[in-house]
Amino acid sequence: MLRTPQLLPPRVRPADIPRQILIRPKEFQKELLDELRYHQAQVIYSTDETHWLQEDRFEPAWADCVWRDVKGLEFDSITDAQKKLRAISPRWRYFGDLFHRRGALIAEGVVSKKKQQPFRFPSLPPSASDPVFTLADEHWILYSQSVSRPTMNGLIPFEENKDVPPSRAYLKLWEALTILGEWPQPGERVVDLGSSPGSWSWALAELNARVVSLDRTELSPKVMRSTNIEFRRGDAFSFQPTPMDWVFSDVICYPEKLFDYVHSWLESGHCQKFVCNIKLRGESDPVLIERFQTLPQSRVLHTLHGKHELTWIHHPRLQQQKFVK
Ligand SMILES: C[S@@+](CC[C@H](N)C(=O)[O-])C[C@H]1O[C@@H](n2cnc3c(N)ncnc32)[C@H](O)[C@@H]1O
Repeated sequence: MLRTPQLLPPRVRPADIPRQILIRPKEFQKELLDELRYHQAQVIYSTDETHWLQEDRFEPAWADCVWRDVKGLEFDSITDAQKKLRAISPRWRYFGDLFHRRGALIAEGVVSKKKQQPFRFPSLPPSASDPVFTLADEHWILYSQSVSRPTMNGLIPFEENKDVPPSRAYLKLWEALTILGEWPQPGERVVDLGSSPGSWSWALAELNARVVSLDRTELSPKVMRSTNIEFRRGDAFSFQPTPMDWVFSDVICYPEKLFDYVHSWLESGHCQKFVCNIKLRGESDPVLIERFQTLPQSRVLHTLHGKHELTWIHHPRLQQQKFVK
């Protein structure tokens, strides 16, 4: 059961230190709670902004961000907290939540005062790898040196291109690739399924990948002109597995259809890297999400630039998660 803030123990004891902190989504709270309930996740505490989990078997798809391998740090005073934090890392990021005023005072000594600049894809600001901390009570810090996304709360403020791409859909793709920390390299062969009007294809062509772009309808004329894009009109699912460096899909289709399709790709062994959007119909279904999550080397996540959809990422670097209930 989820606890409400009123039930916070007066003082967090080491035994209460969560293994994971989930940043709660603004919009999809119910979806996250359904997912946690389905997996019988042990939520030891919830604040307005976070859920604290006693375990780290898997990373819930609907969390805006996951702080992994959380540790606790006891301190006496603000100076003591700063000294102990600096002993771990010279620079930190601070997430204001419980005991915010006290936390902000600690942050003054360890957090860079530089305002966060918009992210210019494909690069990350150096602060993206700084560890993060928040306060659990007046004398306990919770911190993580492994955050699932480049910002503490998950939102990545990109410098947008308002001239060429025909829609803002490319932001979802940039977000997924930034979280993965890898993107197509010049000359790599990629296929973009369900590509019209073409912002994903544009984003991939900008990386100088060689893009096969497939949709039933044409791309916008500006995108069509790119020499890196070969447009093919037709049914995305008729594109049979063939050697490719990346497969991308934003096709609007039943999730089950996408599952069977990507499964055939995985079985073929022709491609190791996938970024595919799962278009949800009606309520989010934890059973369906789990099917994608339990594919080998996979993550399912909600991009904050996306709407009622999830993104399945498959990459050789991703480790298998444990879903044992
Ligand atoms: C959300 S839009 C894609 C937007 C695109 N990623 C972009 O950045 O501009 C979904 C696309 O899927 C296409 N689509 C749906 N079913 C398809 C199918 N079976 N084969 C090919 N395209 C399909 C639609 O024509 C539509 O253009």
